[in-house]
Amino acid sequence: MEVLFNCKLSQLMGGGTVRSLACKCVFLLVAVLILRALLVPPSPGVEWSNLVYIKSQSPSFGVGVRQGKFLEVPQIVWGLNNQKIAFARACLTARMMNRTLLMPNLSASLFYKEIDLLQPISFDKVFQFDKFNALCSGFVQLGRYSDLLNQTQVLEMQKGSGRKWTVERDLDQLRQHSKGDFDEHEVIRIVGKNPFLWHDHWPVKDYAKVFECLVLIHEIGQEADRVVSKIRAIGRDIGRNGESMELENDDKPNSQPLPYVAVHMRVEIDWMIHCKNLEQRLNTNQICSSKKEIIERVGNIKGLKTPSVVYLAVADKLLQNSSILEGWGEGFLPFEKKKLGVDKIYKKYPYLIQSAIDYEVCLRADIFVGNSFSTFSSLIALERTQKMIRMGVNNMCETNIRWPSYAYNIQGELNGPMRWVSNMSHSTLQEISYGTNHISC
Ligand SMILES: *[C@@H]1O[C@H](CO)[C@@H](O)[C@H](O)[C@H]1NC(C)=O
Ligand SMILES: *[C@@H]1O[C@H](CO)[C@@H](O)[C@H](O)[C@H]1NC(C)=O
Ligand SMILES: *[C@@H]1O[C@H](CO)[C@@H](O)[C@H](O)[C@H]1NC(C)=O
Ligand SMILES: *[C@@H]1O[C@H](CO)[C@@H](O)[C@H](O)[C@H]1NC(C)=O
Ligand SMILES: *[C@@H]1O[C@H](CO)[C@@H](O)[C@H](O)[C@H]1NC(C)=O
Repeated sequence: MEVLFNCKLSQLMGGGTVRSLACKCVFLLVAVLILRALLVPPSPGVEWSNLVYIKSQSPSFGVGVRQGKFLEVPQIVWGLNNQKIAFARACLTARMMNRTLLMPNLSASLFYKEIDLLQPISFDKVFQFDKFNALCSGFVQLGRYSDLLNQTQVLEMQKGSGRKWTVERDLDQLRQHSKGDFDEHEVIRIVGKNPFLWHDHWPVKDYAKVFECLVLIHEIGQEADRVVSKIRAIGRDIGRNGESMELENDDKPNSQPLPYVAVHMRVEIDWMIHCKNLEQRLNTNQICSSKKEIIERVGNIKGLKTPSVVYLAVADKLLQNSSILEGWGEGFLPFEKKKLGVDKIYKKYPYLIQSAIDYEVCLRADIFVGNSFSTFSSLIALERTQKMIRMGVNNMCETNIRWPSYAYNIQGELNGPMRWVSNMSHSTLQEISYGTNHISC
């Protein structure tokens, strides 16, 4: 899924496309940031629970979003995770300018060189429009093109690019366009690169807030329900015979579903080449994990009782190869889409929606295990962290709590995976966009 297109991934492996240069620059920047993160140790004794409430230092203006002024952005492209980040960045840009964001097109397909293969899909064919506005009311707002009064009052704003287009210049441009004559225009249309490549000016907390307002439309949500109940049904069957697991579940009190573990397995060949390069450059061995290492670490999760159902979220092209189902220890029942019998559900939909269903299945898992250098995994860990915060969990790194996440690429206790809680007080989304091994627990 994410594998097939990712700036950090395929592009860096020497793809000769137009964007590869930009990617390399982004990569270098990221490499520096990661190195910095590796070299600067976290200050000991800082209580996580205090950090969560640190005031955001966002340059946002504050309350409310004007109704009659709009911002238009280029089509949102690439993988699901890239699209979510790009969409949130567009929303936060509109918020800073005190404008309503005109509902953008997402892309149903992955980007493959040709622009007409981008397959635009309206935002409201994937996420609920009204629900989004209700949940994000007072923070960011989406508008429809039919809300526009005067189509002629459009101001185009060209995003700069290149080395000289710094974060400060970008911020300055946004400020300039938020006042005076510029601000008179009913619509400001940003032209240039897709929002994923824009400079980031907003804290992780603001992104998390936008992600929380993204609710799948009913039809897609139901498909995710179907997949989750298939997984839970298997858990129920083995639960009847074997001993039940430690964690409790309260989703459906009558049917007593058993917990499941979702593992976002990044073992595809293109990922392996990419991550080996990255490891070499960053001088670390904490990015790639072999199938063997993932299985071993998941098997060592402290407090996880067996039998246990393990859902393996992998790219479609791996579905034919059952080798990921082999090698699991006794008591672990690994399933992927095909073995679960849900591949037909997925095949009905284009890439973006398949990915969104998988995301939802991982999000709802009782335990999630991913790779902290994967954006897909990172966004899931972020949303699960938000969920714990909402539930009022204080010490999110403790052993016996609901909704734990782990990173298998980093060794944790007892040779298990490292516990993973997103640090909500970061001032940009940088680490989540490009990976980190600084995962807070
Ligand atoms: C945003 O627009 C609304 C409505 O015009 C206005 O009340 C509010 O003060 C504006 N906020 C800022 C920060 O400009
Ligand atoms: C979104 O895509 C549709 C085609 O599906 C197109 O007609 C429409 O103009 C696009 N909207 C924007 C804002 O690009
Ligand atoms: C639309 O905007 C143009 C240019 O600013 C202006 O001349 C025209 O009167 C406006 N029309 C309406 C209906 O507001
Ligand atoms: C499945 O993958 C493994 C390792 O990635 C490989 O050795 C094997 O040949 C593959 N099997 C098939 C049927 O493609
Ligand atoms: C979270 O991020 C903040 C700001 O980057 C940093 O000061 C703090 O040490 C981090 N906390 C943890 C637990 O890593």
